[in-house]
Amino acid sequence: MAEAARAELPANKAERYAALRAEIAAVIAGEPNVTARYATAASLLADAFPDRFFWTGFYVVDANKPSELVVGPYQGTLGCLRIPFGKGVCGAAAAQRETILVPDVHAFPGHIACDSRSNSEIVTPVFDRTGALAAVLDVDSTQFAAFDEVDKIGLEAICGDLLTRD
Ligand code: SME
Repeated sequence: MAEAARAELPANKAERYAALRAEIAAVIAGEPNVTARYATAASLLADAFPDRFFWTGFYVVDANKPSELVVGPYQGTLGCLRIPFGKGVCGAAAAQRETILVPDVHAFPGHIACDSRSNSEIVTPVFDRTGALAAVLDVDSTQFAAFDEVDKIGLEAICGDLLTRD
């Protein structure tokens, strides 16, 4: 599927994810600060898919309350600050440690509507070097069924790099 975004990125979605993965890895190389890494990924992802990515950001595992996610760097309208594990799509992905694709958020039990314009969503876990869950990447769209397997593969690859590369 062709996507309208930055001219220098490939039009094909899988190729665009591959280019983004390399771009994000290059920018964060040598940066030890985790917030800087999340912020870089949120910015480059949102900017690469402006038509589909309405809200793009991270909910990180709260060090003081490990069964709760707290909002991290994001691009988009106001997000809720905290999400307990098991609640909403983000909390479900955190609890299951797996990507969750939701074509219609209104049909997802317990979905948390931070912005009523969101209609579909994909949430991908981020693990640290030890395999512990560190965060989830949440991408919301105003379109229904905006995300597919290509997004899942692309976002999982990018999230897989975030905390595991120097
Ligand atoms: N929709 C999410 C909550 C986070 S925001 O939409 C930014 C969920 O159900 O987990």
